[in-house]
Amino acid sequence: MKLSIALAATFAAGASAFAPSTGRPAATSSNAAASSATALSAEGRQPIMAGNWKMNPATEDDALKLATDFSKLLGEEACAVSDFEGCTEVILFPPFPFISKVKDAVDEAGITVGAQGIFFEDKGAYTGSVAASMVKSVGCEYILCGHSERRALMGDDDVNINKKVKKVLESGMKPILCIGETKEEFDLDITKDICAMQLSKDLFGVTKEQMADVVIAYEPVWAIGTGLVCGANEANKMHRFIREKLAGMYDEEVAKATRIQYGGSVTPESVDALMSMPEIDGCLVGGASLEAVKFARICNFES
Ligand code: PGA
Repeated sequence: MKLSIALAATFAAGASAFAPSTGRPAATSSNAAASSATALSAEGRQPIMAGNWKMNPATEDDALKLATDFSKLLGEEACAVSDFEGCTEVILFPPFPFISKVKDAVDEAGITVGAQGIFFEDKGAYTGSVAASMVKSVGCEYILCGHSERRALMGDDDVNINKKVKKVLESGMKPILCIGETKEEFDLDITKDICAMQLSKDLFGVTKEQMADVVIAYEPVWAIGTGLVCGANEANKMHRFIREKLAGMYDEEVAKATRIQYGGSVTPESVDALMSMPEIDGCLVGGASLEAVKFARICNFES
C-alpha cells in the first residue's frame, strides 16, 4: 500500500542512494497512491505506524538527523488522523529531551509525535518523572503505556498502567496500550489469558466513548528486539482474539473501531505480510525505526 516506486528503488539500493534533497518519493506516484489506495481496512480503520526510539539516539543532533531524513523519505505519505483521506498515520516516539525539536522537524510532513511514557500524578515531588500536561504542552498527541520494557525493568504494573491510561485520556491525548505475553507465558500456552487480563486491568474504568482514542499494540515480549517476528497469521489470530475481548468488555462497535498494532521485530521484510492481515492495523516499531530508510519502507507497506 502506498509504496512509491521511487521509495522502493531507494530502499532496494540501500540508504546510501538516498539524497536528502531529492529523496522524497516522486510526487506523481505518491499522489496516485494516496488517492487510489484502499487504505481503509475492512472496518474502515486508518493504518497507524509508530516508531519507538526507546533510549536512542545518543544526541540531539543524531535525533534531528534521523527525524529529518525520515520525514523527507516519507514525504506526502503521512497524515494526521484528522486528515485521513487514505493515508497512514505516522507517529514518532523520541526520548523526552528531543520531543520538541523532533516535532518541529517533522510537523510539516504530517508526522505526529508522542512520548514514551508519563507519570500519572499532575505535579509534585516525583524526581525524574514527567507529567501528562508537560508532554502535551510540547505537542505530544500519543503516549505509550504498558510497554513490556517498562513492565519488566521499571516496575510498571497493571494498576499503574491503568492510572496512566486514564490520565492520558483525561488530558486529551491518546494512549497506545501495549500488551503481550512473555516467552515463558507463550510456552505455557497462556497467551490469551495474559492478554485478556492485561486488557481488563489496564482499561479498567475506561469508557466506551474514551475507547475511540485508545490504540492497542499487541507485542509478544519474546519478539521484541530479538529478530523473532510472530507469524502474520498467528498475530492476526491474536488481534482477532483481542477484538473479541473488547467486544465482551464494551461492544461490537468498539471491537471493530479500535486500531490494533502488532509490535516485535517488525522489518521492511516482514511488514507487508503483517499488514495484509485483516485484523492488523499498523505496527509499533523499535529497532527498525532508528533507520530512516527502513522505517519509511515500513510506513509505506504494500498490502
Ligand atoms: P522492536 O521493538 O521492533 O525492536 O522489536 C518493538 C517495541 O519495543 O515496541
